[in-house]
Amino acid sequence: MINLLKMKIKNYMKTIFFLLCLLFSYKQLYAQDNFITNVNNRTHQSLGGKWKYIIDQYSTGSIGFSPLYENKKPADKTDRVEYSFDQAQSLWVPGSWNAQKDELYYYEGSVWYRKTFDFQRKLKNSRVFIYVGAANYKTDYSFNGKRLGTHEGGFTPFSFEVTDLIKDKDNFLILGVNNRREKENIPGMVTDWYNYGGITRDVTLVEVPQNYIDDFTIALKKETALSKEKEIVGSIQLTGPKHPTEAMIEIPELGLSKMIHINKEGKGNFSFKTRKVELWDPENPKLYTINISTDEDHLSDQVGFRSIETKGTQILLNGKPIFLRGISIHDENPTREDRANSMDDARLTLEWTKELGCNFARLAHYPHQENIVRLADELGILLWEELPLYWGIDWKNEEVLANAKRQYAEIIRRDKNRAASIIWSIANETQPDEARNHFLTEVAQYIRKIDPTRLLSAACKKDSWHDGDKSKWYMVSDPIAKELDIVSFNEYLGWYGGDPIECREKNFKIAYEKPVIISEFGGGALQGFHADSKTRWSEEYQANLYKENIDMFERVPGLSGMTPWILADFQSPLRQLPNVQDGWNRKGLVSEKGRKKQAFYVLQEYYESKKKQYAKK
Ligand code: GCU
Repeated sequence: MINLLKMKIKNYMKTIFFLLCLLFSYKQLYAQDNFITNVNNRTHQSLGGKWKYIIDQYSTGSIGFSPLYENKKPADKTDRVEYSFDQAQSLWVPGSWNAQKDELYYYEGSVWYRKTFDFQRKLKNSRVFIYVGAANYKTDYSFNGKRLGTHEGGFTPFSFEVTDLIKDKDNFLILGVNNRREKENIPGMVTDWYNYGGITRDVTLVEVPQNYIDDFTIALKKETALSKEKEIVGSIQLTGPKHPTEAMIEIPELGLSKMIHINKEGKGNFSFKTRKVELWDPENPKLYTINISTDEDHLSDQVGFRSIETKGTQILLNGKPIFLRGISIHDENPTREDRANSMDDARLTLEWTKELGCNFARLAHYPHQENIVRLADELGILLWEELPLYWGIDWKNEEVLANAKRQYAEIIRRDKNRAASIIWSIANETQPDEARNHFLTEVAQYIRKIDPTRLLSAACKKDSWHDGDKSKWYMVSDPIAKELDIVSFNEYLGWYGGDPIECREKNFKIAYEKPVIISEFGGGALQGFHADSKTRWSEEYQANLYKENIDMFERVPGLSGMTPWILADFQSPLRQLPNVQDGWNRKGLVSEKGRKKQAFYVLQEYYESKKKQYAKK
């Protein structure tokens, strides 16, 4: 009896601790006030389409002779105004300017966009927000001539309230977007991808009641994943001048509903016990409708319930070992030569991913569009997500650290209820030194505080750093890995160094008893170029490199997954070999025309074998 009581108390304490973590996470996430998410599940309308634009080459648009955000027009024939949005040309939003105008292909700098629109209120006495899916890199936002703020980060959403400024007629929204690379940006000065500038994801007008359901978190309690009776826990955040003191949460398909108390800060916790829930996994990506309602607002979402953890050198999904059959992806539609920005773009990419036999994708090297995360939830593809703390970062700069934390908070706020998202990665190929180790340790600890439910990793390098060096033993002991759940590293033996056949003599030592993901390997091939397997850039060279690398990585202790580089060819200014690269990185398994290369089928065959091997476990 005593033991039973002790176990009950222990379980109760665990639930309290877990809920306190979630509650604490709100304090962290509410650093971003006016941060609205889940926009497609709210009353909304897209402001996408044709926007006027003005090129602001010297970045003086907010201060110049007449600031552009004022949208000035001459009052009479003597008035001086030195620009005109009315007479300007247009760009499509969403979409980068590079992909739309030849004269802007190489442009890096500031462009000011204007959208004019009339407003028909759909919700009585509503509050109105503007939500920007992403704009690369720095955005100065204003509405009806009033400057409201700036956002830094090319791949995370931001929003701002315009309730007191919006009119029935002739509103104008002006965004000044600057994609100039700076050493204190995230990423820094050099990347192996195209620096697409502009409003690269959709802009949405959102209406909510005066007191609205601002946010919620919901998850399966990890400890119950294997028990007959599972526990679903979470919390709700209301915002507004007089928010109610209770809210209803329902999961109709499970016959669960509960009225929960909301405290004076607008927070309320809930917990359900159920024996009926089907856990989400790649073979059965089961999603449930969640309904949250108060006397003023209603918010629904589709959520999957799963647990993810590590045990020794294994990754456990719902308590069972899983091998992450992955592929790395850039957030591009290569056939359109632009950033991905629609559900169609997401579908194209994930169809290739599924055809490859993947259950996992690395969304490199920055947060991707929300469509692909939600589609991964539907299709059962697990995700690795990351911020572009990539190559050279200004590690000693406290403002860069604050920026990194803010952007992680933004993407965690957006994706925290997505079952597919299982890993936050904190870096890619960054040289270990005191400043970098301190910076990344801070980032790792911050992410764990605001999202204790997911795993941490980073794409490191082996100790010698040189791809394909001659040593027989490849050591991986990056100090940052002690902060991580999964040790991951990139290795290009056979491409940047050595010959693929040297894979046969290499072995690995991993300094941590943790699962290992090979976050990158691969080589380039021009689709349609055929020769023997020794001829660089041929499909045969790439296919042979894959065979040799896969056999080598199978010997890595704790190998629990891989995300070869990369699903599709992508644009990069670093890749200028005429008639082979022509501005494209050719390590894709699929060309920009959507044609598969031989190596696609090498990886597909390997993944078929891995799937069978793990099905028996
Ligand atoms: C690097 C880097 C990628 C890059 C790739 C390559 O390791 O992480 O962003 O595109 O290797 O060289 O193709």
